[in-house]
Amino acid sequence: MKAIQFHEAGGPDVLRYDDVPVPEIGPGEVLVRVHAAGINPPDWYLREGLTVMPPEMRPALEFPLTPGTDLSGVVEAVAPDVREFAVGDEVFGMLRFPGFDGRTYAEYVAAPVSDLARKPAALDHVQAAGAPMAVLTAWQYLIDLGHEVPSPFTGRVHSPVPLAPGMTVLVNGAAGGVGHFAVQLATWKGAHVIAVASGRHEQFLRKLGADEVIDYTTTDATEVTRDVDVVIDAVGGPGAARFLTVVKRGGTILPVFFAEYDPEETARLGIAVSNIQVRSDGPQLATIGRLFDEGKLQVGVDSTYPLSDAAGAHARAARGHIQGKIVLTVLP
Ligand SMILES: NC(=O)c1ccc[n+]([C@@H]2O[C@H](COP(=O)([O-])OP(=O)(O)OC[C@H]3O[C@@H](n4cnc5c(N)ncnc54)[C@H](OP(=O)(O)O)[C@@H]3O)[C@@H](O)[C@H]2O)c1
Repeated sequence: MKAIQFHEAGGPDVLRYDDVPVPEIGPGEVLVRVHAAGINPPDWYLREGLTVMPPEMRPALEFPLTPGTDLSGVVEAVAPDVREFAVGDEVFGMLRFPGFDGRTYAEYVAAPVSDLARKPAALDHVQAAGAPMAVLTAWQYLIDLGHEVPSPFTGRVHSPVPLAPGMTVLVNGAAGGVGHFAVQLATWKGAHVIAVASGRHEQFLRKLGADEVIDYTTTDATEVTRDVDVVIDAVGGPGAARFLTVVKRGGTILPVFFAEYDPEETARLGIAVSNIQVRSDGPQLATIGRLFDEGKLQVGVDSTYPLSDAAGAHARAARGHIQGKIVLTVLP
């Protein structure tokens, strides 16, 4: 079969379209004929050699590596102990995360059934492949963590703030993968949603339910917003703590990417800061799948690239300003 591999860390050009054996399935696994594979930031962090991670958290890498966690496809074979899925089922999922052995940039993938759900009928394979990591991240931050594993960043177990009408949620990085699902989930729960993104995304975000859209290229959201209940920040990085001024006492900041907050300052302001590392969860995807089928959630597709041009897809990602998801088409 064909799969994307890289034999050394580096830029998008290290991604090669190689011939490799079809993977064998073990207990609890199915073989999936991949129709589409979604692209997520951990894919390019891995390609770059995980230099984004602090050295003490960085695992040793053994090349060649095949990136990818997210897929949508059709079950081609099942292990003898598998009862959940049968040959011919359409499935989607995020495989073995946290971890870097999902290997979904390939024509066939061995997938643990615990990480899969039936593909929502309302989504085609491209849309379904775009959803898993981004929607599970927004879901586990905002709706239901689904496990008791402490965050590796704080050592604490995250507990989502129950969202309800009358509450205000600000989503920073609102047009990206995680952000556009956070906007829709907060809207679904009846919250007033403020989306912060560059201006080109305004129509996209209003269609997804945003009540206000702030163009960060012309307006500093922290100067025009106050008394927010929850900030979910998919941008993070240095300067993220400026969002403390927009959150009311008793409110919460959810940094999706690394961001440093001074614990003494957040305690003085009465603001909780909580984060998670998203985890694979097939049953949660089944629940979320019903929202796709009911039309309460949709997947924004920024662009598609054939599997053979994974390098082009990663180059697109590096240019930033992503609207929704970038997806690799594997079986046209
Ligand atoms: N904790 C976890 O488990 C977890 C899980 C998934 C992802 N993440 C992290 O979360 C981050 C977001 O992931 P993603 O998949 O959503 O990324 P993404 O699809 O690349 O989206 C990032 C978005 O941020 C916007 N943006 C960039 N600079 C901005 C700024 N200064 N203010 C507001 N928006 C800005 C970009 O578009 P515009 O600039 O055009 O608005 C883009 O739409 C990544 O760093 C990823 O590593 C963490």
